[in-house]
Amino acid sequence: MQLMKIVEQIKQPILEEMELFESKFKESMATKVPLLNRITQYIVRRKGKQMRPMFVFLVAKMVSGGRFEERTYRGASVIELIHTATLVHDDVVDESNKRRGFFSVNALWKNKIAVLVGDFLLSKGLLLSIDNNDFDILRLISVAVREMSEGELLQIEKARRLDITEAVYFEIIRQKTATLIAACCGIGAASVGSASEEIEKMRLFGERIGIAFQIKDDLFDYTDAKIGKPTGIDIKEQKMTLPLIYVLNTCTKEERDWLIKSVKKYHNDKKRVKEIIAFVKEKGGIEYATAKMMEYQVKALELLETYPDSPYKDSLLTMVNYVIERKI
Ligand code: IPE
Ligand code: IPE
Ligand code: MG
Ligand code: MG
Repeated sequence: MQLMKIVEQIKQPILEEMELFESKFKESMATKVPLLNRITQYIVRRKGKQMRPMFVFLVAKMVSGGRFEERTYRGASVIELIHTATLVHDDVVDESNKRRGFFSVNALWKNKIAVLVGDFLLSKGLLLSIDNNDFDILRLISVAVREMSEGELLQIEKARRLDITEAVYFEIIRQKTATLIAACCGIGAASVGSASEEIEKMRLFGERIGIAFQIKDDLFDYTDAKIGKPTGIDIKEQKMTLPLIYVLNTCTKEERDWLIKSVKKYHNDKKRVKEIIAFVKEKGGIEYATAKMMEYQVKALELLETYPDSPYKDSLLTMVNYVIERKI
C-alpha cells in the first residue's frame, strides 16, 4: 500500500502523459490476425509497473523545463513494446511460467507462438520509429536491442561454463537490463531536442539506475516475496548472480567446490537449491549485493545534481529510491 502511494506520487507530474500513453500503447499493438490480437490483449491487460515510460516522460520534462513532444509519446511506446517483447522471449529462454502475476505467454500458448509474438512486438516498436522518421530514437533503441540479445547470450554462455566473474556479471546486467533503461532516459532527452552531451548524460543516468534495478531483481530471486513471477529460479537456470558470485570469491576452496558442484549437478534439486540460498545468505552475499546496488544509486543521483529543482526532478529522485526499495 505504502509503495503503491510512492508510485502515485512519482506519476503526479506526468499523469496526463501516462494516461494518453496507455491508449497509444494499446493502439500500437493493433493487428488483423485474430490469434495475435487475443494474445496482445492478454498482454496489455496485465500491465507491468511501466517504469520505463515514466523515465522517458520525467527525463523529457526535467531537461526541458516541463515540455514534451509527440515524439516523447512515441519514444515511450517504442520502449514499452521492446520491453514487452523481451519479457515474452525471456520467459521462453528461462522456461518461466509466470509473469506479472499470471501465466506467461509461453505457458499458455507454448514456445513457438511466444517467439513469434515477441518478434511481432519488436517489429511494431521499430516501425513506430521508422514510420515517423524518428531515426535518432531508432538508433538509441537499436543499440539497446542488440545489447540485450548480447547480454542474454553472454549469460547463457556463463551459465553453461559456470565461470562468471563479478566484472562479467556487471557487463551482463548492463547489457541485458541497464541498456534499455539508459535508452529510456536518452530518448526522453532526445525527444525534446537536447544536445548530444545531455542525451549522453541522461543515458548514463539510466544505465546506472538500470544496473541497480537488475541487482534488485536478482536479490528478489533469493527471497520468497510475492513479485508476480517465480523466485528461486536463477540457480535452477544456473544463473549465478551477484550474491552467489561474491560468496564464491570469499569462501574456502572446499565450500567453493561444493557450491559449483551444487549449481552444476543439483540445480534441479529443490532441497539443494534451498541449501545454496541459505549458504549465500549466511556468508553475507545479500548484504554485499545490496551495498553494490546502493553505490549505483548514489552514482545515478550525482548526475541529477546540476538540474534545478522541479516536480519532474523530484519524481526522478523518488523513482531512483523506489528502484531499490520496491516490493515488486
Ligand atoms: C522485468 O522488468 C525485467 C527485468 C529487467 C528485471 P520490470 O520489473 O520493469 O517488469 P514489468 O514491466 O514491471 O513487469
Ligand atoms: C531480465 O532478466 C532481462 C530481460 C528481461 C531482458 P531476468 O530473467 O532476471 O528477468 P525476470 O526476472 O525474468 O523478469
Ligand atoms: Mg527471466
Ligand atoms: Mg530475474
